[in-house]
Amino acid sequence: MKAIVVRPPSTGAEITDIEIKPEKLDGLSIKILENGVCGTDREIVKGLMGEAACPPCDRYMVLGHEAIGILEEDGKYLKKGDIVMPVNRRGCGKCLNCLCGRPDFCETGEFIEAGISGMHGFMREKIIDYEEFLVPVPKEIRDIAILAQPLSDLEKSFDEIVSVQRRMIWTCKDGTYNCRKALVVGTGPIGILMGLLLRSNGLMVYMANKREPTEKESKIFQTAGIEYINTEDDFSGVLMSGLRFDLIFEASGGTADIAAKSLKILKNNGVLGIFGFSSTGHAELSSEDLQKLVYRSIAVVGLINGQKPHFQRAMLRLSEWNTIWPEIMKELITKTVNINDKVSVMKVLESKGPGEIKVKITW
Ligand code: NAP
Ligand code: BGC
Ligand code: ZN
Ligand code: ZN
Repeated sequence: MKAIVVRPPSTGAEITDIEIKPEKLDGLSIKILENGVCGTDREIVKGLMGEAACPPCDRYMVLGHEAIGILEEDGKYLKKGDIVMPVNRRGCGKCLNCLCGRPDFCETGEFIEAGISGMHGFMREKIIDYEEFLVPVPKEIRDIAILAQPLSDLEKSFDEIVSVQRRMIWTCKDGTYNCRKALVVGTGPIGILMGLLLRSNGLMVYMANKREPTEKESKIFQTAGIEYINTEDDFSGVLMSGLRFDLIFEASGGTADIAAKSLKILKNNGVLGIFGFSSTGHAELSSEDLQKLVYRSIAVVGLINGQKPHFQRAMLRLSEWNTIWPEIMKELITKTVNINDKVSVMKVLESKGPGEIKVKITW
């Protein structure tokens, strides 16, 4: 079958015909309809993703962890013709969290991830998968459903942030999160989806990037009631202004010093959630900084990967956004390329285009 294949740690990707050994004989056959392209895919293609690894016994890996497809046969609950999205991380089969459906908290680190490490991904004509890893896609959101995979990571992150903040009273006097201020650093697809998620959970949201927002970003932020801050000055303007946040969500994957610098603009008892994979640099924390962190009860938490409950919630969230923010939803898929257009497919896998939010590959 036709597939997009990588050979980590080598760079590059190719569209080629492969024969995949039947991995899951009793699984369901799914015809892939479309894939989303994520920064992680591009890092693998560029050889920058240290964790990337072929499945054992294979010298190549099918790329792709964002996909929707159509079921070609009946399952126990799902029916032939249903549109589904596969969950991308699978457990180690050994630890308690994996055995209880939460490989996002795998204790051994021996989990595998489709198209990232140890498991063939979804950028191919067909996959065979077990029903337990398939999430139904509501027909109403079919055109934007590909966003549910990255959004699942963020639904999980918000859950985790709320769990961390249960150490204090984090809800406001009216029982909502309306009095809490969040800053999202980075305005890529992850930053934008997280900004929207925090807004729809009632928080006051600020988005930051080291430049002026694009027209499209301004439109999205304005519609959702999000403020924008240009942090070209490394947060010194924010520091001077006295604006402080209950939550800072690092979604840029930029230099490591962003995390350290942003600690200074957190309120007492604030939380810094690190989601982006910092690409370069180092973070400096002096003993004085660490003392302040303790005195001010600051929490720093790494956030990764959503699981089936988060995928399900992401589907509902997209349906909700389609109703309240239809004009935003129209802006999020910025490009669609077909698998037969090899040149365009390679181009979108190699680099992010200007003004891009989410790119889809259709089959
Ligand atoms: P992306 O498309 O590369 O977006 C990054 C955004 O951050 C861009 O808007 C970029 O600006 C901005 N940026 C870069 N340096 C900045 C800085 N110093 N200050 C403020 N903004 C800055 O990436 P993405 O797909 O949105 O993903 C964001 C990060 O999350 C990546 O590191 C990705 O690998 C990671 N990720 C983590 C998980 C997880 O489970 N933890 C899952 C998916 C992705 P420009 O627009 O000007 O380029
Ligand atoms: C995926 C996550 C995954 C992470 C680390 C991201 O691109 O969306 O689900 O856990 O990469 O490999
Ligand atoms: Zn991803
Ligand atoms: Zn495990």
